[in-house]
Order: sequence, then C-alpha cells, then structure tokens
Amino acid sequence: MTVHVLIPAAGSGRRMGTDINKQYLFLGDRPVLAHTLSLFEKHPAIDKITLIVPLQELDFCREEVVERYRFSKVQAVIAGGKERQDSVRNGLQACGADADDVVLIHDGARPLLPPDVVDEAIAAVQRCGAALVAVPAKDTVKEVEDGMVVKTPDRSRLWLAQTPQAFRYQLIASAHEKAYKEAYQATDDAQLVEWLGKPVAIVSGSYCNLKITTPEDLLLAESFLRQVDEEE
Ligand code: C5P
Repeated sequence: MTVHVLIPAAGSGRRMGTDINKQYLFLGDRPVLAHTLSLFEKHPAIDKITLIVPLQELDFCREEVVERYRFSKVQAVIAGGKERQDSVRNGLQACGADADDVVLIHDGARPLLPPDVVDEAIAAVQRCGAALVAVPAKDTVKEVEDGMVVKTPDRSRLWLAQTPQAFRYQLIASAHEKAYKEAYQATDDAQLVEWLGKPVAIVSGSYCNLKITTPEDLLLAESFLRQVDEEE
C-alpha cells in the first residue's frame, strides 16, 4: 500500500490582502507552503506528494519551493481549478494511486500539523475507509438568517473540520467523479463521502493546525512555530 498526499494550494489568497499569494509569505525561515511540504517530506509514513497550484505559478513553485528546499517526495506539481474541489479532483486524477492506496488531502495553507495526527488519520482510514481531522468547537455556533438568529445547535456535538482528510483512493475518487457529473458542491472532501452515505471517522486534531487565511493567522502561526522550535 502506498500513502499519497495531495496538497491543494491553488487558491488566490485574496483574504490576506497582500499582492503575493499567502502561501509564499515567509513564516520563520521559509514560505508557508514549504513548511507544509516539509511536514510530509519528513514523515516516514508518506510515500508520494502531488502539489496543486495555480496555472500561472507552476514554474515559480517548482523552482522557488520544490527545487529550492529539495522536496524529493513531490512527484508532480500540477495546475488547480476554479474551486478547491476542482483542484482536488485534478490531483486525484494525476497522482497515480491504486484503488486500495491511502490518499491524504491537506491544505497548503495549514503548515503546523502535528506529525502524530498523520499517523492517526492513516490508521483511521485502514479501519473505516474515510477519516477527517477535526477539533471540538470552543465557541457557541449560531445559525443566522437576515441578521437574526434562527438556531443554536448543541455545541457538545459540534466539531470544526480541518485537514488532512484521508481516504481509500477508490472511495474519494468515485465521490469526486459523481459530484462532478451531478454538479454537487461541497465545502470539504469528507462531505462528498458523507453524500455517498459512507461512514467518516473523526480523528482529534490540534488547535495549532490553523489555516492561514488572514494576516492575524500569520502572527498566530509565528508564535506557535516559535514554541515548536523551542520544544525541539
Ligand atoms: O480558500 P480556502 O482557504 O478554503 O482554501 C483552502 C486550501 O485550498 C488552500 O490551501 C488553497 O490554496 C486551496 N485551494 C485550491 N484551489 C482553489 C481554491 C483553494 O487548491 N481553487
């Protein structure tokens, strides 16, 4: 069995308010995306990485990230699509996985994933076919319409979805193909498997595993990174 990682990194990063795509901003000594790739390059359970970036950034990313930091597990750098779901589908088609292989899908913008969560996600896929890393909601969540609260879901049952999300290749590839044919849009990959009526296990993630989206996320990530460096 081969373990693949797909890294969707083909977003525009507009919410960061910078000219440069957020994933090339430096976090400590290297770009955000290089931290994300390092994590899997160093992880013994990971065999192959497929990186998905905007079409116009293919050369830049190959030269300034993959070659510069010598990521030897990156077998392909390919172009993404309009939505994240399109980018992941491109990655699934390009990665060359066999039906029973495990595929982890992890956002390029999440550079601080603890390595043991990767092991737990792979183990959960072996038990159940699909797994999702998540953390319990700390805040109360409100459902709102036209500026008015319509519902307060029971917080003790709410988890916030992160990545990686991990699957047997055949399951996630068929879910993406069906969604494409039927124009079904989900906000994460696990939702496509849920839509097929298949079980998805929860793996406990970390509140440090934040997605760098807005400028304050970068500040937080810098302080988490300093703490990790001090512990090592
Ligand atoms: O936009 P959002 O922050 O939800 O994106 C999550 C991840 O998906 C990011 O790493 C981003 O680069 C990636 N993405 C993608 N293709 C898109 C949009 C987002 O690969 N069209």
